[in-house]
Amino acid sequence: MSNQNTQEQTSYDISIIRPQMNSDDFKMRGQGMESVRLEAIRKGLLTLHTLELMATTIYRFQITRESCEFNRQLIAAMCNEMTHYQDFQVKLYEYGFKPSIIRLAYWFVGFAFGFTSRLMGRKAILKTGIWVETKAVHHYTELLETIDWDEETRKSLKRTRLMKMGISTDGNSFSNRK
Ligand SMILES: [Fe+2]
Repeated sequence: MSNQNTQEQTSYDISIIRPQMNSDDFKMRGQGMESVRLEAIRKGLLTLHTLELMATTIYRFQITRESCEFNRQLIAAMCNEMTHYQDFQVKLYEYGFKPSIIRLAYWFVGFAFGFTSRLMGRKAILKTGIWVETKAVHHYTELLETIDWDEETRKSLKRTRLMKMGISTDGNSFSNRK
């Protein structure tokens, strides 16, 4: 009986949507850190949080109503960016920081790039995707080298950077698909 229950509970793939997180998955961070280190972490998290918002918005406004493989890939890219955005928002609050009030400007930049490239066609969409991922990898590398992150956040940044470089588990990222 219990075997059957276990089978029912795990008979579908839950790896795409993050399973519900437990309160143990979250922690308050930054206690005992020097103010200089904390300020660097705050600036780094704000940069990544706003960049991920821009990336999410770019992909979001590139998607059309057409039922096709291209849109499917764009939806996947948007979903991944939403996950990154969510992760940084959580980290900001765990550290006792707040998201940037000017992040709305990044939403508009994302909208402008996303919608304009959609009007220009698939080639422009792909070029924009490559541009935004390259820019992100550059930022991740710079912030990994210059900021003294806590160990978990550092690992999270490295993992996300690898995904952005196209070294995700399936070895295939949107910007690599032409
Ligand atoms: Fe991202």
